[in-house]
Amino acid sequence: MIVDLSSKVAIVTGAARGIGAVYAKALAQSGAQVVVADIDASGAEETAAALRAVGRVAHGFGVDIADPEQTQKMAAFAQSQCGGIDILVNNAAFMKPVNAPLLTYPLELWRATLDVNVSGTLHCIRAVAPLMIERGGGSIVNQTSVGAFEGGHAYGISKLAIQGMTVWFAQELGRKGIRINCLAPGMINTPAGDASRPPGMVKGLTPTIPLKPLGEPEDLVGTLLYLVSDASAWVTGQTIRVDGGWIKRVA
Ligand SMILES: NC(=O)c1ccc[n+]([C@@H]2O[C@H](COP(=O)([O-])OP(=O)(O)OC[C@H]3O[C@@H](n4cnc5c(N)ncnc54)[C@H](O)[C@@H]3O)[C@@H](O)[C@H]2O)c1
Repeated sequence: MIVDLSSKVAIVTGAARGIGAVYAKALAQSGAQVVVADIDASGAEETAAALRAVGRVAHGFGVDIADPEQTQKMAAFAQSQCGGIDILVNNAAFMKPVNAPLLTYPLELWRATLDVNVSGTLHCIRAVAPLMIERGGGSIVNQTSVGAFEGGHAYGISKLAIQGMTVWFAQELGRKGIRINCLAPGMINTPAGDASRPPGMVKGLTPTIPLKPLGEPEDLVGTLLYLVSDASAWVTGQTIRVDGGWIKRVA
């Protein structure tokens, strides 16, 4: 997909590795200046340096999205280094694999999951949206998961909460020029994704998924570029599943 983002500035959270690093690369290849943000500051800088080495404009930034002060600093960094923010991709997540029943789910893991995934997404939006409004608008993409539809304990609940938050933010921010949508991947081949799946899950689900059961991070890029670009100019408050046809919902 060819999308021209050459006048745009993008922040991608959780971009030191995995899907976020692939998103940062795709946005940079489309011409955007990219802030590669991650709690792993040195990993973020490595990813940014690799993009700079091939002639792209990228900056690493260390941030814990669960801390609102740090997300404010991230937004201020993008503003001062790049002159503003047009695109925010909320990709960072806490995805510890625990299959305990909800009745006995460890409270500290429940809190950590909601703190990073739900509150962290909120903090990033609150830090960035006022700067987007100053600039005339922008596009926010929240990475959720098929876990929001298929269950998945605290993790799935956190992703469902992000989808709910997206619907409400779409109402509040739309009139200010900001669109906000969710991209919900199916099973994606990353080390963290593999570690989060019980053994045999991909094989077990293969008969129920019409396209290939396990996607690559690159399989998500076309939808990301659609959502951040003017190709989706009249689309807000939506969740697009990119899952090989796994989840079946008529409405
Ligand atoms: N891999 C999959 O199968 C899959 C499927 C559906 C959805 N997702 C979603 O895609 C996203 C990326 O997944 P991935 O497989 O690349 O995972 P990953 O663990 O490789 O990447 C997540 C990144 O987020 C960073 N991060 C974690 N906590 C953070 C915090 N508090 N502040 C800032 N950064 C933080 C990590 O350091 C890491 O670099 C997540 O939102 C995940 O829920 C993944």
